[in-house]
Amino acid sequence: MLQDQCSRWCAAEQVLAVFIKESTCGLSNVSIMLAQQADRVMALGEWEERWQEDRIGFHQPHVHKMLESHIDKVLAGRTGVRFFFPLCGKAVDMKWLADMGHSVVGVEISEKAIKQFFEDNNMTYSEEPVPALPGAKVFKGSERNISLYQSDLYNFSSAIGGQFGAIWDRGSLVAINPRDREKEKL
Ligand SMILES: C[S@@+](CC[C@H](N)C(=O)[O-])C[C@H]1O[C@@H](n2cnc3c(N)ncnc32)[C@H](O)[C@@H]1O
Repeated sequence: MLQDQCSRWCAAEQVLAVFIKESTCGLSNVSIMLAQQADRVMALGEWEERWQEDRIGFHQPHVHKMLESHIDKVLAGRTGVRFFFPLCGKAVDMKWLADMGHSVVGVEISEKAIKQFFEDNNMTYSEEPVPALPGAKVFKGSERNISLYQSDLYNFSSAIGGQFGAIWDRGSLVAINPRDREKEKL
């Protein structure tokens, strides 16, 4: 009986030792990754390359669970809310909100991502230049109130996009170079 208990403790101790070792390794890995990210500069061209090469593991094919489960709190009884999606990619959350009658304004540097958003969702769209943003374009859904600006987020402002009732941002922290975080405050 005592022997039994002792071997269980020994086994538990071993599991704990492995756990501590792995957690410590995990922690140091995280610190190394954060230190590397502090100096990381991901150029816009690199994002475009990822889209061109279909290296878009960040894209999620389903509506984000947090958005789904908290949407009532976000809306707080409001209808026809204007949602802002900075660094939108081709997030399916945009269609989900637009299908509910809300409007969506997104900003994304890759034209391929924007076109894929409309094509993946079988939506037709128009394309026009943005006079206030030289070189930028806005793609507008014909059936839903979705306007996606092909632009660098840091050139975008409320003078162009207007006012918003809500912002949904998922997966973008990795895309913001630490040195640019101050600039993100639009
Ligand atoms: C990690 S992905 C997240 C995409 C999207 N939020 C999602 O949930 O799938 C970041 C996206 O931001 C775009 N991006 C990166 N830097 C940008 C910038 N300065 N201005 C506009 N778009 C940018 C990239 O092309 C990429 O599609």
